[in-house]
Amino acid sequence: MNPPSIFRRRRVLLLSAAAAGAVLAASVAVASTAEAASTLGASAAQSGRYFGAAIAAGKLGDANYTGILTREFNAVTPENEMKWDATEPSQGRFTYTNGDRILNQGLSNGSKVRGHALLWHNQEPSWAQSLSGSALRNAAINHVTQVATHYKGKIYAWDVVNEAFADGGGGGRRDSNLQRTGNDWIEAAFRAAHTADPNAKLCYNDYNTDGVNAKSTGIYNMVRDFKSRGVPIDCVGFQSHLGTGIPGDYQANLQRFADLGVDVQITELDVAQGGNQASVYGSVTRACMAVARCTGITVWGIRDSDSWRTGENPLLFDNSGNKKAAYTSVLNALNAGGPTVPPTSGPTSPPTSPPTSGPTTPPSAGACSASVTLNSWNGGYTATVKVTAGSAAVNGWAVTVNLPSGGAVTNAWNATSSGTSGTVTFANVSYNGQIPAGGSTEFGFQGTGSGPSATPTCRAS
Ligand code: G3I
Repeated sequence: MNPPSIFRRRRVLLLSAAAAGAVLAASVAVASTAEAASTLGASAAQSGRYFGAAIAAGKLGDANYTGILTREFNAVTPENEMKWDATEPSQGRFTYTNGDRILNQGLSNGSKVRGHALLWHNQEPSWAQSLSGSALRNAAINHVTQVATHYKGKIYAWDVVNEAFADGGGGGRRDSNLQRTGNDWIEAAFRAAHTADPNAKLCYNDYNTDGVNAKSTGIYNMVRDFKSRGVPIDCVGFQSHLGTGIPGDYQANLQRFADLGVDVQITELDVAQGGNQASVYGSVTRACMAVARCTGITVWGIRDSDSWRTGENPLLFDNSGNKKAAYTSVLNALNAGGPTVPPTSGPTSPPTSPPTSGPTTPPSAGACSASVTLNSWNGGYTATVKVTAGSAAVNGWAVTVNLPSGGAVTNAWNATSSGTSGTVTFANVSYNGQIPAGGSTEFGFQGTGSGPSATPTCRAS
């Protein structure tokens, strides 16, 4: 059996260091390498990520199942128990018994809980299937409000809307009774969820989005539009129900969404058993690990016998609960590390004024420029700052912002800040200091009062 990659990596580092005579630099690199962890959750946590599983309330009495669950995973998603048909079986009558069992299982194990899913054209209760127009819209928004309120403060991330885009080449919306209430039904759902639980991350979740294709691009355009108009969206879920391979641009697709300023998550991973299963699992894990805003991975079940894909054996544990080769592949990829997830941004309060952009100073060689976009509300704002390299690459940057008196920075992400009021300087963190010529990166901060009105200055190093 091969040794875990972490140990192989150490040997390579020491050998190359000796060859170069750079013993000191190498020993620093080795000392900063985290120890290999022996479970999925613990190894993901080393880089600030989670590794989760979809679980079913009906299986929580199975000791083999819960043994693996509590040992390996630090996030859970209810496979069916928080869906519309489960939580509101008749209109206005809400049942949370099984959803609460999943929630409590997760919280008692110190796990994150992903809520799945507030609105989905599938598994609509029959009473909702027979509604249309404003009656359906009102019922849907009431459902979002009630369920998100019941779980307020306890859910890490909600799949607010699931699978609303069509398959095929058009990149447009899927027809459904929800879609027929008006194209704005998705943003209405996100706004209602945000009002009910301002601290939950709010995700759009879909499948067949595993590379740059018409469907993922349709979703990308929606997210970009939402961000530009201040619709409170925080994350995009990529279900990743995979066959025997993944597109070569899987990671690039995650990255383009992350570059819009949302987290990305692998939400329902399973891979058909076959010669490639272990390597596909490894590739997906490495892709997430390589994207700073890929905050975690969830597999859609624990043992092969728990999967909805009967007969395909698509999970990490066999029917008896033994670890498969795919498990080892994932664990090694997690332990190999990657950029640490940036700190959680503040809540995405809906703006009361439209986003504004400051003018951008044209960058010159060896320099950088910065522009700021504000989402403001009464008493506060979030600022997204775009840092752009000039005609030469930048190896580090510092952006200085002048805040109006009385205001203060309360938190920042993708940058470190010095000072909280008056003149505040934000510097790159380890993973975003290098910007290629003409390229850009983004950081953000949240503040009280009103946001900066002048264009920030940027200093390259
Ligand atoms: O609970 C009833 C049981 O009482 C009844 O005897 C039995 C008879 O068929 O059905 C049981 O309900 C089933 C339920 O799973 C619980 O096992 C439903 O028929 C069945 O349709 C349902 O399937 C779920 C499916 O979503 C529904 O579309 C799967 O478990 C679940 O894994 C699957 O998950 C979806 C995600 O939510 C969204 N993305 C795709 C993913 C896979 O389809």
